Amino acid sequence: MDIKKYFQEKTSLINEQLDCLLPKPDLKPQILHQAMRYSVFAGGKRLRPVLFLATLEALDYRETDLLPFACALELIHTYSLIHDDLPAMDNDDFRRGLLTCHKKFGEAQAILAGDALLTYSFNLMLAVREKGAAPERLLQAIDEVASRAGLKGMIIGQVTDIESENKDISLEELKFIHRNKTGALICAAVRSAAILSGADEKTLEKLTGYAENLGIAFQITDDILDVIGDEKKLGKPVGSDAKKRKATYPSLLGLEKSRALAEEAVNRALWFLEDMTSSADPLREIGKTVLHREA
Ligand code: IPE
Ligand code: IPE
Ligand code: MG
Ligand code: MG
Ligand code: MG
Repeated sequence: MDIKKYFQEKTSLINEQLDCLLPKPDLKPQILHQAMRYSVFAGGKRLRPVLFLATLEALDYRETDLLPFACALELIHTYSLIHDDLPAMDNDDFRRGLLTCHKKFGEAQAILAGDALLTYSFNLMLAVREKGAAPERLLQAIDEVASRAGLKGMIIGQVTDIESENKDISLEELKFIHRNKTGALICAAVRSAAILSGADEKTLEKLTGYAENLGIAFQITDDILDVIGDEKKLGKPVGSDAKKRKATYPSLLGLEKSRALAEEAVNRALWFLEDMTSSADPLREIGKTVLHREA
């Protein structure tokens, strides 16, 4: 299969839907709706919503239109980037090839645009109820996202990331950060799709194994690209981690070992999909792209 084409097709569906769902930029207060749209439409690979859709496909689920749920995952991700870039956090000036949200709209409005994207994501997740998603499964899927984007995932990862600046930490501690700050939302994307599809426990476990390993590989690659990436392709500054003395795989283990560990994690991720049919090919291909990505 052509994974590039697959991403293009899904991304254009997601972008169209996001455009319909986000408040129009001329709605008052304009600065809020413009800031939300600015960061959402600055670009971005749409990995989390694509993973969500690819998981539905892997399970041959076609019953309900769950696109708004996929979009909610992208809103949560975009909010996390807006806040991650703030001066009090990573203090970065460029994101997705544009000035960061706070550089463009000021810190207060960037914080609020992030808050609005996060809270609105819950409206979007709930909106699939009107499209016929089973209420019990929907509640469980939303709980999954809330936990992994929050206290059982991304937020504790981000807190520990900030706390670990300028410190020597162990590989175990670094794994904890990566699993949570990045792996958790990736895992939520896969698991929420599986839950909405009504997957059995065994399938859910396998998909969780896939997503957890993919998440680790994705953040190791992000760390590597922060050292050797091309700013133009990345759309964000290279060298940001070193400047903040962040704990990263390359800083702890060097580039070569980091690459080897990313590859191991992808192989483990793919192993979890071994028993699945060719419907899981998009998930398999997404796994492979993580190692060679340049953006
Ligand atoms: C960047 O995520 C932040 C991390 C969690 C590593 P992406 O690399 O998916 O960023 P976009 O969405 O493509 O901009
Ligand atoms: C970000 O990790 C994780 C988030 C939850 C946003 P990074 O701080 O390494 O992401 P980039 O490199 O700024 O995209
Ligand atoms: Mg960060
Ligand atoms: Mg950052
Ligand atoms: Mg990074």
